[in-house]
Amino acid sequence: MLRTHTCGELSSSNAGQEVTLCGWVDSYRDHGGGLFVDLRDRYGITQVSFGPPGTPDAVIEQSKHLRAEYVIQATGTVTVRPEGQENPKLATGEIEISATELKLLNKSKTPDVSPSEKVTELPGEELRLKHRYLDLRRPAMQKTMLLRDHITKRMRDYFEEHSFVDVETPILGRSTPEGARDYLVPSRVHNGSFYALPQSPQLYKQILMIAGYDRYIQIARCFRDEDLRADRQPEFTQVDLEMSFVDADDVMGMIDGCMAKLAKEILDLDLQLPLPHLTYEEAMRRFGHDAPDLRFGLEIVDLTDLAPKSDFGVFKSVVESGGHVRALCAKGGAEFYSRRGIDALTEFVKGHGAKGLAWFRAEEGGKLNSNIAKFFSDELLAEMGDRLGSEEGDLILFSADKWQATCGVLHALRTKIGAEMKLYDPSDMHFSWVVDFPMFEYDDDEKRWFATHHPFTAPKDEDLALLESDPHKCRAKAYDLVINGHEAGGGTIRIHDSETQSKVFGLLGIDDETAKDRFGFLLDALAYGAPPHGGLALGLDRVVMLFAGLDNIRDVIAFPKTQKATDLMTEAPGSVDNKQLRELGVKLDL
Ligand code: AMO
Ligand code: AMP
Repeated sequence: MLRTHTCGELSSSNAGQEVTLCGWVDSYRDHGGGLFVDLRDRYGITQVSFGPPGTPDAVIEQSKHLRAEYVIQATGTVTVRPEGQENPKLATGEIEISATELKLLNKSKTPDVSPSEKVTELPGEELRLKHRYLDLRRPAMQKTMLLRDHITKRMRDYFEEHSFVDVETPILGRSTPEGARDYLVPSRVHNGSFYALPQSPQLYKQILMIAGYDRYIQIARCFRDEDLRADRQPEFTQVDLEMSFVDADDVMGMIDGCMAKLAKEILDLDLQLPLPHLTYEEAMRRFGHDAPDLRFGLEIVDLTDLAPKSDFGVFKSVVESGGHVRALCAKGGAEFYSRRGIDALTEFVKGHGAKGLAWFRAEEGGKLNSNIAKFFSDELLAEMGDRLGSEEGDLILFSADKWQATCGVLHALRTKIGAEMKLYDPSDMHFSWVVDFPMFEYDDDEKRWFATHHPFTAPKDEDLALLESDPHKCRAKAYDLVINGHEAGGGTIRIHDSETQSKVFGLLGIDDETAKDRFGFLLDALAYGAPPHGGLALGLDRVVMLFAGLDNIRDVIAFPKTQKATDLMTEAPGSVDNKQLRELGVKLDL
């Protein structure tokens, strides 16, 4: 070993010892007589003094050439700092090393991204991603990477304690339908044929249940070629699991235990179990979204039945055409949002497809007033105020539109107001389940049904008959784990008989031939004694992001892709030479 200790472990109890440390020059100060260097490694920072009386003149001279991020080995004596010169901000702040030897292990160019915490202003993300080796050297990034490691290890321990078996599944496989575009890999041996990178190990884990493994777990890499957002990456990691002989509550209960362990061990937070459940219908009705942020209230109030009593054309016509009039009542919002503030909110909701943003302020005595108040009788205003529970000082904001559109607008508005008015403490954590999702969604453009989760999801027993009579109303045995307004995981109980599976394929417009071609192996397997089974996948990156209190998924992934799916450090994707293309039987048509 080139060192006797790390830069994070020495204290006054080591006083007088001769030690050797290695690390990077975090910063240096010349105090005339010699250099003070803050030496940094993953474990911390230790001050090394290259000055008299401890340091020989030649070493003092040598130290004067040190610069930021030079890699050095320093030997010296642990010295307790004189009273008043301790640094309480450093774990090693009681001591310093009086250097007797210095060896330069490597120089560094002036870093484009400074790893030192003393540099508080971060450069742009592009530069950080291009020089990821410097960015990852920053203590904040190292802390997140270690947190990720802790979380992953604890989850592995938890599932091992509960008899889960880790089984690896292929990366080169056949396309499974999770709903995103596939990443394809052309085959050299079979020109014209392609592997698909897994969007998830979904079908393999079902096969493992049929094969009798009972409980499966895998930290699985998944690949989806879809539009990226702050909480989405093209390549991400799932904690993927599957269980036999279970119902939805068993799977959720297993994850409850896992979340309680993480919350306790990572954040010292006691979770009340079972975690609260909300049906999909309730989530959409109260919050306009299937992954609502429950750290604050600000629930949606439906006023559709009252709207026809007004003379306000917008509301009346929306209700006549089957739409809804729904509102948010922001406590104290009237003062918080000036007229200009309301204009900004109006522009904001227009970006989410709204046609406008009708509003009222609750004035003295709670009386509602606004530029459109003239279209509402006093009686009606009072009735609206009652329904909204509004009081003097509140701001009421309306969306009048088709149901889905009001959900989208009011969810976006609720999220924005919650953050702007600081309706919650950003360090709070809220865990819940959203259950009973619809089995299918109808796509108006393509004029066909899609599976809300995936086509292997079982309908609720009491809704089985609806598969044929009213697919719209058919609910699934599906559940999503929601943390602070993010979908942190999702899963379902699966169909385990081929007859129901064929029925669902039929509804989704997957005919027998296509089903046989794409999932023949699953249908075959289901016919050989498939046990009832179900599972779930946690988005590991998202879980880490939320536990770390961050809002950008790229900050919890060592080597992430940009929003445009490129890796700025390696410059992937890149071109390949013609010989490779010829072997693969691929011709470019650009
Ligand atoms: P689903 O598609 O809901 O389910 O994915 C499970 C969880 O993975 C995370 N996730 C993502 N994280 C980052 N970037 C992405 N592009 C991305 N896409 C999904 C989310 C999500 O909740 N096979 C099923 C699971 C099952 O039914 O067992 C599946 O993949 O946190
Ligand atoms: P207008 O009659 O278009 O002048 O609109 C009067 C008020 O209603 C304005 O504050 C608009 O922003 C608002 N508004 C218009 N359409 C809608 C809608 N679909 N939902 C909610 N508010 C609307």
